[in-house]
Parts: sequence; C-alpha cells; structure tokens
Amino acid sequence: MKTFHLVSTLALLGGGLLTLSALPLYADDDEHEHHEHEGKRAKHALTMANDPSYVEECAACHFAYQPGLLPARSWQKMLGNLSDHFGENAELEVDKQQQLTTYLMENAGDVKPSGIYYELAGRLNKKATPLRISQLPGFVHEHEDIPARVLKNNPDLSSFSQCQQCHTDAKNGSYEEYKVNIPGYGRWDD
Ligand code: HEC
Ligand code: HEC
Repeated sequence: MKTFHLVSTLALLGGGLLTLSALPLYADDDEHEHHEHEGKRAKHALTMANDPSYVEECAACHFAYQPGLLPARSWQKMLGNLSDHFGENAELEVDKQQQLTTYLMENAGDVKPSGIYYELAGRLNKKATPLRISQLPGFVHEHEDIPARVLKNNPDLSSFSQCQQCHTDAKNGSYEEYKVNIPGYGRWDD
C-alpha cells in the first residue's frame, strides 16, 4: 500500500503540472485493490482500431486512438458532444455517431481489458470521466520523465495527443519503450 501511495502522489503532481485539471482522476485505496485484482486477468493485447468508419471519421485530424485506451463512459461522453470536441467541430450524422458510439463502447478498455489499459487507467477514479487518454493517471506517470523542452517549439510534435510521433508502432497498438523515437530528440533510454 505504501508504494501505491507514493506512485499516485507522484502521478498526481505530474497530472497537476501537465493538465491543470481539477478532476479527481485518482481512485481511493479500495479501488486500488479492486483494480489490482482486475489487472491480473488483463493480459490481453489492445484491440486494434480496425473499423473503417472509425478510421475515416475519427482519424482525419489525428491518430486513430485504439478504443481500448479509454473506458466506455468516456467514449459515450465524447461522442455525445462532438460539436465541441477540444475546440473543434467534429459533428457526425446521427447514424454514424450512433454506430461509432457502439463500436467504441463495445471495445472500450474497461469492456475488453488489456495490460496497456490497466497500465494507463488502472488507478482511474471510477467516478471520473476523462476525455483525454493523455490525462489518465497511468499515462501521466509513464510520461512524467519526458523533459518539457522535447515538446516546446517542436514542429513535429505539438502535444502528448500525438502518440504515433513518438511511438513508432502505435498504430499496431504497440507502445513498448524500445520502439519510442521522439522527433528532434531520438530514442528513449532511461
Ligand atoms: C476536426 C478535427 C477532429 C476530428 C474529426 C476528430 N477529432 Fe479528436 N481531437 C481533435 C483535436 C484538435 C484534439 C486535441 C488535440 C491536442 O490537444 O493536441 C482531439 C483530441 C482527441 C482525443 C484526446 C487525445 C488525448 O490527448 O488523449 C480523443 C480520444 C479524440 N480526439 C477522439 C476522437 C474521436 C473518437 C473522433 C471521431 C468521433 C475524433 N476525435 C474526431 C480534433 C478532431
Ligand atoms: C513525446 C513522446 C511521446 C508521446 C507523444 C507519447 N508517448 Fe507514450 N511514452 C513515451 C516514452 C518516452 C515512454 C517510456 C517512458 C518510460 O518508461 O520512461 C512512453 C511510455 C508509454 C507507455 C508504457 C509503455 C510500457 O511498455 O510500459 C504507454 C502505454 C504509452 N506510452 C502510451 C502512449 C499513448 C496512448 C500516447 C498518445 C495518447 C502516447 N503514449 C504519447 C513517449 C511518448
């Protein structure tokens, strides 16, 4: 339990700095135990983003995030408000919107768990509904050693949302450290 406290405190500091978010994204101790247990059966690989409509509609502006990177409630909330999508209008026709909501929710990280999901979201407070993968507690923790100068004024990298710029095999759902190559910085070796 002590280790968990330390880890979530560090993640919390990182989260505050990176996101300025006041959302309670961190689970309490009871939930740690719950998720630890769930993590043990979450050995599966991440489901690929292989739905053609999803790729067409949702990867026009950015990387096709695998549905398993967010919980179902996050996709539901996001798809319910596409006219105000991170400052952009990403509105879809009702049929498409419903089809993609179903696809994303059926393949969400808490529905089809993977090791990667539990690494990123295992400590997520069940009452929080983040819209960004890059704000998940485990995400912040995994990325907190990356120096700010890597992103500052980098023409090839504007934010942590651009997974594929650093994770060279991200589209295959592969985020291993040895496949990281940060534009203007190089391979990651910690
Ligand atoms: C018109 C352009 C556009 C379209 C279309 C679009 N998005 Fe986005 N999306 C954005 C922008 C801009 C951001 C914020 C990126 C940033 O902060 O660098 C974003 C961010 C996101 C993020 C959060 C990334 C992170 O930081 O973790 C997710 C998840 C996401 N979009 C999913 C979707 C889904 C699902 C669809 C299809 C229904 C979609 N997007 C369609 C522009 C778009
Ligand atoms: C600026 C480059 C960069 C961006 C952008 C980035 N990552 Fe990472 N990511 C890294 C580095 C570097 C590590 C290894 C950190 C460490 O262990 O020291 C990492 C680690 C990870 C890990 C853990 C891998 C493991 O084997 O333990 C996951 C999962 C991950 N990133 C997912 C993502 C996702 C999803 C996105 C997009 C929403 C993303 N990353 C965006 C650089 C990046």
